Amino acid sequence: MEQLLSKMTLEEKVGQMAQITLDVIGTGDSRFSSDEPFIIDTAALRRAVVEYHVGSILNTTNNRALPVLEWNQILSQIQQVAVEETRLSVPILYGLDQIHGTTYTADGTLFPHEIALAATFNPAHAYRMAQATAYETRACGIPWNFSPVLDLGADPRFSRQFEGFGEDPYVGTVMGAEMVKGMEGDSKNGIDANHVASCMKHFLAYSVPNSGIDRTPAFVPEHILREYHLPLFKAAIESGSHTIMINSGIINGISVHANPDLLTKLLREELGFEGVMVSDWMDIDKLYTRDKVASNMKEAIKLAIDAGIDISMSSYDYETFCDTLVVLVKEGAISEKRINQSVRRILTLKEKLGLFENPVTYLKDYPEFASQQFADWSRQAALEAITLLKNENKVLPIDPGKKILVCGPNANSMRTLNGGWSYSWQGEKTDYYTAGFNTIYEAISTQFGQKNVKYLPGVSYVNEANFNIDRFDKLQETINAAEQADYIILCVGENSYAEKPGNLQDLYLSDNQVELAKKLAQTGKPIILVINSGRPRCINKIEPLSAAIVNIYLTSNFGGDALAEILAGKTNPSGRLPYTYPRYPSALYTYYHKPSEDMGAIEEGKKIDGDYLPQFEFGHGLSYTTFEYSDLIVNPSVFSDGDSISITVTVKNTGDREGKESVLLYSSDVYASITPDVKRLRRFQKIDLKPNESRQVNFVITSQDLAFVNPQNEWVCEKGDFIIQVGELKQTITKK
Ligand code: BGC
Repeated sequence: MEQLLSKMTLEEKVGQMAQITLDVIGTGDSRFSSDEPFIIDTAALRRAVVEYHVGSILNTTNNRALPVLEWNQILSQIQQVAVEETRLSVPILYGLDQIHGTTYTADGTLFPHEIALAATFNPAHAYRMAQATAYETRACGIPWNFSPVLDLGADPRFSRQFEGFGEDPYVGTVMGAEMVKGMEGDSKNGIDANHVASCMKHFLAYSVPNSGIDRTPAFVPEHILREYHLPLFKAAIESGSHTIMINSGIINGISVHANPDLLTKLLREELGFEGVMVSDWMDIDKLYTRDKVASNMKEAIKLAIDAGIDISMSSYDYETFCDTLVVLVKEGAISEKRINQSVRRILTLKEKLGLFENPVTYLKDYPEFASQQFADWSRQAALEAITLLKNENKVLPIDPGKKILVCGPNANSMRTLNGGWSYSWQGEKTDYYTAGFNTIYEAISTQFGQKNVKYLPGVSYVNEANFNIDRFDKLQETINAAEQADYIILCVGENSYAEKPGNLQDLYLSDNQVELAKKLAQTGKPIILVINSGRPRCINKIEPLSAAIVNIYLTSNFGGDALAEILAGKTNPSGRLPYTYPRYPSALYTYYHKPSEDMGAIEEGKKIDGDYLPQFEFGHGLSYTTFEYSDLIVNPSVFSDGDSISITVTVKNTGDREGKESVLLYSSDVYASITPDVKRLRRFQKIDLKPNESRQVNFVITSQDLAFVNPQNEWVCEKGDFIIQVGELKQTITKK
């Protein structure tokens, strides 16, 4: 590596630090799109790779998924130029957002989004998704995946909540680490050809802008950053993740791309991250164009490189980045030593990925691509994610032979099941790719028999450009059909979106959908409300009208089938909410929060104020069977730092069906020097119990698991009492 580095000119080094988007090297009129079918413009490719020594390419072309063989051809052509026509034969590092399975590979396997994987409370699903995705991404010839998303889903307004593992730092830490292991494998000598480099994103606290709007400022005190947001990244780094992408936003008034305290002091020096740090999309430019902390591109580039960025996702204008950085070094504003640091990291990654020996991998060596096994994994994850939120009078499961109306804007759409980042950025092209899969209506029709199941929309999403606008559609016919049905399955939620196009001004479910529910309720027929959305949209206006409520999140291509199985009782639901389901748009809390005064106001028998009045609590999820918890034993009851605290509880299936149960262990610090959270999740384990079967579940924690970060930014577990809670059982233990 050092030998190669020593042979490189400054221009060659700087080129390694630039990343361009695929359309830049495609034929076509516009800079921002390419001809169809995609053809590499060899002159443009040579200009970038040979003349400018660009070291990395990302993204797909024309914002659509490509067949795996087309990827092979593109990668082969790119690497051929990089290896055969450049002086030092350095291969290209190609990166893609395959964030819930193979987003941009037409014929690969899609999985439920991370939010749904979190709802399974079963880390095996995170591992498997990552493993399958890595394998199928390599089958394309691509060695780098911009995944996992480790942003804490603490704000339901945020348009990217579905990309992460929900609001709980511990769930995200466990699931994120599993994804890194599944994606990178455990080879001690780098990353083998069945695995890819993962990319932790977006460092740090990207998901909690104060406005709830993507890429707007966040104010997060450092001890909060450290206690809630950092653990996910720390665990992923310790699990071996090789790359990291930076938060596009501004924290505490400072653009993260220009913040050496976060990028160098915290990430490099304190967490010891040695891998590659990539900017997000054109975010160095934004230091100048949006954030106004640089008065031109030259200042912006200097700020970002000084802060610690290794690769600029320049996307289009790589020339400015490369030319300017060369000038900055020649002028002595940035040292060549600093450039060497970044290039060393980039070349080391290429080496670890085996790109020097084997710049392209091909489908022919990946016989498991799109295998039945991967499809089964995706289906099983969907089955375990789906969360039963309400089941009045055991209205579910539905007996065979009943007449069912399936309606609502999400009833017959593969696009809504998959959400954003599916076959295209916004997911709007999904229905062209998913003929072989079942929408909710199709799956229910197959499950309950065509003659028993009718579909009418009632409300439909408008068109591709207007992501979340809907209109009444055959409203009266839908109501007439409801009169004839035994059950109404009303499928509501959102159309697909990602990032800024998913920004939201109102967290309520749309008025048309609420209106449809009210009209259907007038028929007196039981409504099964199915929620299919990227974030929890408030439903308090229609919750009382629904006999049952099922949250299916974005469970992807098998989400419809999995839902139908659950509605028919063939699978017992076992998902639990990975976020707090808010009751009102202005009452947004996470389950972990500081206590506040409760005025005890009650209206119509219902509590109407309090510090936490969600529609459904974090961790809520019903089953068709019942579980009983007993014999909580916590040992020792008095402990010191370094002691292992063993916690056991017995769980029994007291119903008449087999079922899976996620056992959640919480702790509460009774008094602390800064107000403690009311409770925090510390461990979870999912078990499977037959009727009447009981099992002892064991957990081990230490004082570190009970610690918090104090205003001096130190992790501390103070003396005093802690309440350990599993189910409704509680035990107090004391730290000496
Ligand atoms: C997103 C990243 C993504 C990148 C490349 C950005 O807009 O914020 O999550 O990896 O684009 O597609």
